[in-house]
Amino acid sequence: MSPLAPELSEALGMAVRAPSPYNTQPWRFVVDENRIDLYLDPERVLHTSDPEGRQARLSCGAALFNLRLGIRAHGRAALVEIAPDPGRPDLLATVRIGGVQPKTITEDRLARAIERRHTNRRPFLDRPVELPLRSGLKAAARAENALVELVDASGRTAPRYRIIADLVRQADTVQQNDPRYQWESQRWSGGPSERRDGVPATAFGPEPDGDRVLKLRSFPRETAPPPRREFEQQPLLVAVLTYSRGIDADVIAGMAMQRVLLTASDLGLSSSFLTQPFEVPQTRAQLTELFKPHEIHTLLRVGYGYPVAPTPRRAVDDVIVRS
Ligand SMILES: Cc1cc2nc3c(=O)[nH]c(=O)nc-3n(C[C@H](O)[C@H](O)[C@H](O)COP(=O)(O)O)c2cc1C
Repeated sequence: MSPLAPELSEALGMAVRAPSPYNTQPWRFVVDENRIDLYLDPERVLHTSDPEGRQARLSCGAALFNLRLGIRAHGRAALVEIAPDPGRPDLLATVRIGGVQPKTITEDRLARAIERRHTNRRPFLDRPVELPLRSGLKAAARAENALVELVDASGRTAPRYRIIADLVRQADTVQQNDPRYQWESQRWSGGPSERRDGVPATAFGPEPDGDRVLKLRSFPRETAPPPRREFEQQPLLVAVLTYSRGIDADVIAGMAMQRVLLTASDLGLSSSFLTQPFEVPQTRAQLTELFKPHEIHTLLRVGYGYPVAPTPRRAVDDVIVRS
């Protein structure tokens, strides 16, 4: 079989840089000349933390956004159909590479941000995110037919911030005390340095010095932890929301999430995830209720941090099938 066209191979290389829970990379691509079908890989869905595969679909939506950018970066149109076949729910999207269409400045900037975006679990500076940058994050989500709500620890949104912080803590406690969650966490964290998936120990953050308002996920360590560090007091929370729910809404949310993350990187901001409450049924239900009538998909912690290293990915050849 002839090798993939270099442009397509590069675009798929950009797609797989998308974030995913525990770096599970729950995607598969079926490639047929100018058409790419994006499938959920059910074997890479976390059965305890994500029984309905919603976080996995979110990740696939993020990969889809990167793929689109990768095609656009080469000056070609990218025609996307989301959930094209109701009879095949794992077929999340079909992308057709169209004719010549020059990339925009924004697309170029976002495509360049893909390599720079990494989940940053380290402390951020105690520096607020300024208004124009906040507007940029909101516009990014709107451009993908979704929306974000910015939740601050002070002012009008303070009560909501406290409720969310409480739900994060509750869910985190449930997970710490349930062997099924702990097994999943161990299965997908650490391991040998040649491993191409999972969260490597180099990406774990330090434990906080003192009590934090927001409990970040702790990862199981095989060696002595680094010294505790002081974290920022009150990071900005960004809730990614859609106007509807269902498989297509999960994919749309994933695209919007990735556009927000890349916009943040382009603006010099760092980000990480706070998703424990989505992984415990009771806290997920409370969080869903809190953001109604919109559907909440994920929570991001956004602020100013120092650069962190990339995490590994499986090679493009390992995630594609040629039809
Ligand atoms: C839906 C989703 C949920 C995630 N939840 C968490 C989380 O709760 N805690 C965490 O530290 N990282 C979380 N992550 C980040 C992943 O672990 C990270 O994307 C993956 O390890 C790849 O690393 P990278 O983002 O630096 O490329 C999440 C990512 C996604 C897409």
